[in-house]
Amino acid sequence: MHFYDPAEGHRLPHDPFKAIIAPRPIGWISTVDKDGRGNLAPYSFFNAFCSSPPIIGFSSEGFKDSARNISETEEFVFNLATKPLAEQMSLTGAAVPPGVDEMALAGLTAAPCRVVRASRVAESPAALECRLLDIVELKDLAGRPLRSFLITGQVVGVHIDMAYLTEDGLFDTAAARPVGRCGYLADYAEVSSLFEMRRQR
Ligand SMILES: Cc1cc2nc3c(=O)[nH]c(=O)nc-3n(C[C@H](O)[C@H](O)[C@H](O)COP(=O)(O)O)c2cc1C
Repeated sequence: MHFYDPAEGHRLPHDPFKAIIAPRPIGWISTVDKDGRGNLAPYSFFNAFCSSPPIIGFSSEGFKDSARNISETEEFVFNLATKPLAEQMSLTGAAVPPGVDEMALAGLTAAPCRVVRASRVAESPAALECRLLDIVELKDLAGRPLRSFLITGQVVGVHIDMAYLTEDGLFDTAAARPVGRCGYLADYAEVSSLFEMRRQR
């Protein structure tokens, strides 16, 4: 086994951390600033943390535009990033000045939400409207604040494109083809097939 303490360096050509925690679901987060200007960006330090009520969250390394907008409006929207939308999703990760809407920049269509002011990505098969729960600055073992912010929200509205609902009313994940972020600079994974395994009793 190769063992290392990250504080002392990985002794490998590239840091393997994000290749080990992979694939990571991508929170494609749309927000508005206090003046109502839209913003869209991908966050792969993202996951769901509670099912009832549904709670999701992501981490902003630095207080980026999304974090600032969420702190101002206390709302955000998760859009499902899929293989057909992967190029656009990647474009929305570009550093652009605050107030420039990455949704328009990437040629995506803004659809209105029901509960929050931010728009959702019309082309995405599913979107979750959220109200802010917490913004917590992460700390290391020495208690030093890290300028990384864990942002959690409670889902208050769910949109599902009917094209991705089966006759049995199931969300067809494989048909939606979600993309996950993998290891190094350019690596992604696509969910295109599922397998079933019954829970042991
Ligand atoms: C697939 C992907 C995943 C990303 N995940 C994160 C992340 O988890 N945390 C983060 O701070 N930045 C992440 N980034 C970088 C941000 O998307 C990028 O800094 C973006 O410009 C932030 O936009 P905003 O300032 O409009 O919020 C990711 C970029 C890509 C393409």
